Amino acid sequence: MTSMEDHPGAGREPGVPQPSEAELAEMDRDELVKLGTKLDGVELVDYPDPWPVKGTRAEKRAERVIALWFTIAALAGLGFLVTLCWPQWWEYRAPDTGEYEKYALYTPVLGATLGISILALGIGVLLYTKRFIPSELAVQERHDGDGKGSAEIDRQTIVAQLADAGNRSTIARRSLVKRTAGLGAGVMGLGLVGLPVASFIKSPWKGEPQDTLWHTGWLPQHPGEVVYMRRFTGKSDEIVLVRPEDLDAGAMETVYPFRESERGNHEALSAAFMRSDNPVMLIRLRPEDANRVVKRKGQEDFNFGEYYAYTKVCSHVGCPTSLYEQRTNRILCPCHQSQFDALEYGKPIFGPATRALAQLPITVNDEGYFVARGDFIEPVGPAFWERKS
Ligand code: FES
Repeated sequence: MTSMEDHPGAGREPGVPQPSEAELAEMDRDELVKLGTKLDGVELVDYPDPWPVKGTRAEKRAERVIALWFTIAALAGLGFLVTLCWPQWWEYRAPDTGEYEKYALYTPVLGATLGISILALGIGVLLYTKRFIPSELAVQERHDGDGKGSAEIDRQTIVAQLADAGNRSTIARRSLVKRTAGLGAGVMGLGLVGLPVASFIKSPWKGEPQDTLWHTGWLPQHPGEVVYMRRFTGKSDEIVLVRPEDLDAGAMETVYPFRESERGNHEALSAAFMRSDNPVMLIRLRPEDANRVVKRKGQEDFNFGEYYAYTKVCSHVGCPTSLYEQRTNRILCPCHQSQFDALEYGKPIFGPATRALAQLPITVNDEGYFVARGDFIEPVGPAFWERKS
């Protein structure tokens, strides 16, 4: 005769016989499963096998459908990997070049293939659960735990229940489903790992001067070189320079650098649009606002009358600060709602940005066109090197 203290699961569901450790060791998995459910106060009302007759055509068809979804997941994952590694597909192409349509498809194709892969994998798992996992009907009395850790009897019965669930899922004998599921998950996983790694494969500065991170496209490449402000028309080869009379009071225009040596050179003209630190907002303040401007120390002559030029790259994390509100003279970044004051050297006045927008020194040359008087004197955007402001 044994007392309650001798039993490994003493204190559990009242009325359930508690086996001793020796009895427990002799039980097979089915007995452990039944004991486990009883100890938890669970009564299995129904536990039907979804395919009581094995090997029917319907069962094989269900298996093939699931394998098909896993195969689709694998193929879409493969498509994602191939797109990711396709030579130069990811490189920017200007809208007026023949390859722009292909470039524009890059991100949608990446998204579609990865999305299809995840979706197909999910559908496969869902279908398998519905078609092959027995859906038991069980009733359990609610009761509070007694705050103790798991007893040996709990551990053994839970392991038995998990093994039983795996066995009843019949996954062990469905090699087609196992192989295709492994393939689908494996290829998709490779794609997910490849996504962050791919950006390290090629240097975006290959072929650029070593110090390219330290300046922008506004830097004259030799003494005396004139760097004009050029309007963005969407066509790399169309050169439209900007004059003061092109902007109404309170207007803003995005401009890019242009030098005469680039005229007729499609590559160089496209590169000027592509370079991420090149876009500049040229703003013409209203006369009444221009009188209220507070200039930054050392940048008192960076403007040309009512015209001010600020980088378009947000000093928070580099989004384009494309919105200029004429009424308040605020420059807004749509990413995280930082706001900068155009009347006070692009100083941040709201949101997460803590640094002013870098200001480009500008003037108008003898021909009446806007030109840069040099490069920015500090990094644009968040930058990789320390800023003073
Ligand atoms: S990038 Fe502009 S507010 Fe965050």
